[in-house]
Amino acid sequence: MDLRIRGRKALLTGASRGLGRACAIALAREGVDITIVARRRDSLERTAAEIAAATGAMVRTVAADITTDAGRSAAIDACPQPDILLNNGDGRLPGDYRDWSRNDWIDALDAMMLSPIEMMRLTVDGMMARRFGRIVNIVSRSVKIPQIELGLSNGARSGLVGFVAGLARQTIEHNVTINNLLPGIFDSDAQREHVRALVEPGGKSFEELWRERAAANPARRFGRPEELGAYCAFLCSEHAGFITGQNLLIDGGSYPGTY
Ligand SMILES: NC(=O)c1ccc[n+]([C@@H]2O[C@H](COP(=O)([O-])OP(=O)(O)OC[C@H]3O[C@@H](n4cnc5c(N)ncnc54)[C@H](OP(=O)(O)O)[C@@H]3O)[C@@H](O)[C@H]2O)c1
Repeated sequence: MDLRIRGRKALLTGASRGLGRACAIALAREGVDITIVARRRDSLERTAAEIAAATGAMVRTVAADITTDAGRSAAIDACPQPDILLNNGDGRLPGDYRDWSRNDWIDALDAMMLSPIEMMRLTVDGMMARRFGRIVNIVSRSVKIPQIELGLSNGARSGLVGFVAGLARQTIEHNVTINNLLPGIFDSDAQREHVRALVEPGGKSFEELWRERAAANPARRFGRPEELGAYCAFLCSEHAGFITGQNLLIDGGSYPGTY
């Protein structure tokens, strides 16, 4: 299927590794000009070179922390009129809510709620004026399946999807859609860090926990980042103009509900 987005411009945050990188590759394959943002320059430049070599796409890089005003300004300066915005960044490691301070909560809100909202604020009016926009937020299944140890994520990300639910209904008449992708378990650096944090002294090893997590999924495996990248590219396509405000699980069927 031709996604009919050749020549569009995409700004993707958190796109040097894992799920964000997979979205960048999928869009680049469709002929989209891409600007990718991440903090560490080495992996960012490596990814940009790989994507350009594999797809022939124009790839710009911005080494910046998207949770800061300066980082967001640098991202917008590099891609001032994006047609497509991917909001992605770090989650927070599992823990016990009794240990989280107010600062931990503010930090989580900054990363998982307020930064993506600010990126939308900076881009959505231009998209509406140009009558095309596709915004995808990489969120987490944790907004539908509360994972006790991921309270910071359950809380902060729910704030984001709550905000998007309202905004998405205001932008759609201008052909600007906003959707949230809710990944289950995917094989990525962040997933490895997450599992490492679950290893307890004297308890199960990393390898045991890793195998158990895969086996517990109905698909008996982790998701592949390229599967999420392809989903994202479709949501960013011309064809997806009637899909908005949705919280879309991509989890191998692990969410246990019928609806
Ligand atoms: N993988 C899963 O199974 C899974 C499941 C549910 C939810 N999620 C969520 O999905 C998101 C992506 O996960 P992933 O597995 O792809 O993670 P990952 O492999 O660790 O990749 C994260 C990407 O975001 C960049 N990044 C992180 N913080 C940033 C910041 N403040 N500013 C700019 N760039 C930043 C990282 O580069 P730098 O470190 O160089 O900045 C990297 O490119 C996370 O929020 C994660 O919690 C993942």
